Amino acid sequence: MPELLRTPPLIATPLVTHVVGSRVIVYETITSTNDRALRLGGDGTVIVAEMQTAGRGRHGRAWHSKPGMGLYFSVAFDRPTEGLAFAAPLAVHDALASVVDTKIKWPNDVLIDGKKICGVLVEARQGRTVVGIGINVHHRVEDFPDDLRARATSIEAATGVHIDRGELLRDVLTQLDERVVAIRDGNIEQVFNEWAESCGVVGRRLRCASCEGTVQFIAADGALVIQSADGLKRVMLGEIVELEGR
Ligand code: BTN
Repeated sequence: MPELLRTPPLIATPLVTHVVGSRVIVYETITSTNDRALRLGGDGTVIVAEMQTAGRGRHGRAWHSKPGMGLYFSVAFDRPTEGLAFAAPLAVHDALASVVDTKIKWPNDVLIDGKKICGVLVEARQGRTVVGIGINVHHRVEDFPDDLRARATSIEAATGVHIDRGELLRDVLTQLDERVVAIRDGNIEQVFNEWAESCGVVGRRLRCASCEGTVQFIAADGALVIQSADGLKRVMLGEIVELEGR
């Protein structure tokens, strides 16, 4: 059983939300908050960890979870909830709006000055959906492994601003709750449109997976529809690389 955190609570003031944060459980060390949330469930339960020993990212990659430096948390939803992959990066973007202007990189990375500060991993199992969010808050360049230093940064490294992790967590959860309520009220299109607009890829030339061409539109499931030399292609997974021209 992972160890519960005994130090003062991360979130100092109560959350005012409808779904997200029905319960907040903070662990000292855990394998992965996504694993715990998938196992435990409870609609809106938030699992936070000071440190993950097996944090994971998309495409089977590891997510480095240095203690005290970042925010590593997951929210469980007991029924299949569409649109979390759109809602989560928007929540992070909006929660940081008063501090710094972030960009969403399709599909759901959050960047400052072209470097990643946040990743999102949505997983589903047996009717339960979990959204896991990792945010680099206080990391210094040397806190990242060599191979990530050119591509990753933290809020503090990029802006010089030391923000309180608990306050940021509360703000992200509040923003996420707003979108989850909108989605459950049947307004997924509004969340999708906001996300698609923020990605800023329509009309851009890029390479993704083995496909190269100009993005025509983003389909309702989040896939890029790309005009390539071989015709229209749908790309659902992969890392995009922007190319010159349109
Ligand atoms: C990515 O960009 O590849 C997604 C990274 C997601 C990392 C978070 S940290 C909290 C949660 N628990 C995990 O094991 N992964 C997610």
